[in-house]
Amino acid sequence: MRIDIVTVLPELIKSPFEASILKRAIEKGLVEVHMHDLRKYGLNKYNQVDDYQYGGGAGMVMMIEPLDKIITDLKSEREYDEIIYMTPDGETLNQGIANHISLKENLMIICGHYKGIDQRVRDMFITKEISIGDYVLSGGELGAAVLCDSIIRLIPGVISDETSALTDSFQDGLLAPPVYTRPAEYKGHKVPEILLSGNLPAIDQWREDQAIQRTKDRRPDLLSDL
Ligand code: ADE
Repeated sequence: MRIDIVTVLPELIKSPFEASILKRAIEKGLVEVHMHDLRKYGLNKYNQVDDYQYGGGAGMVMMIEPLDKIITDLKSEREYDEIIYMTPDGETLNQGIANHISLKENLMIICGHYKGIDQRVRDMFITKEISIGDYVLSGGELGAAVLCDSIIRLIPGVISDETSALTDSFQDGLLAPPVYTRPAEYKGHKVPEILLSGNLPAIDQWREDQAIQRTKDRRPDLLSDL
């Protein structure tokens, strides 16, 4: 997979790719992530990328011309499966969307700022609009990092324990069951006996029961979707 991220703040989004699972995925060659500084395509001597909105109103809008140029440049080099715009009015990211996007080969992600991007860029180029939740961030960069993390960890070979990503919360429509590690008892708090029993079918059944119970308690809406 290759991901091209268009941003006015490349430094804001670099670090998530420089540690842990995402770093290793890049080192193993399973994903390439390229940051593109939109300012380089800015207009005039100030490298302007935003302007006042037509019709008046508070907040600047990211201009069409720099975005058109950078997107067109990138598109001339390869075909993109999706050109994604990070925006609070997009489709809310969930595991199903992450699974779907993780199967793609070439992705471009556009990070907005201020009041967002000129609607004509959305009309001309954007194939998917994604929000990471019902709140407004200062820009799309943190959302793009969340989206990238959620899809890159699903690429085969990225997580060494093959089953690990499959047993995450949401993968089967349920929240994950509780987990424990050593010691078996800490300050009087014991690990459930069943997990120490070595009885694998019974442990699987316990985990499933716990997952269902946890989902009923915390996210009953997920059960009605099943
Ligand atoms: N940009 C600003 N707010 C956002 C959100 N909630 N999700 C994605 N991108 C955003």
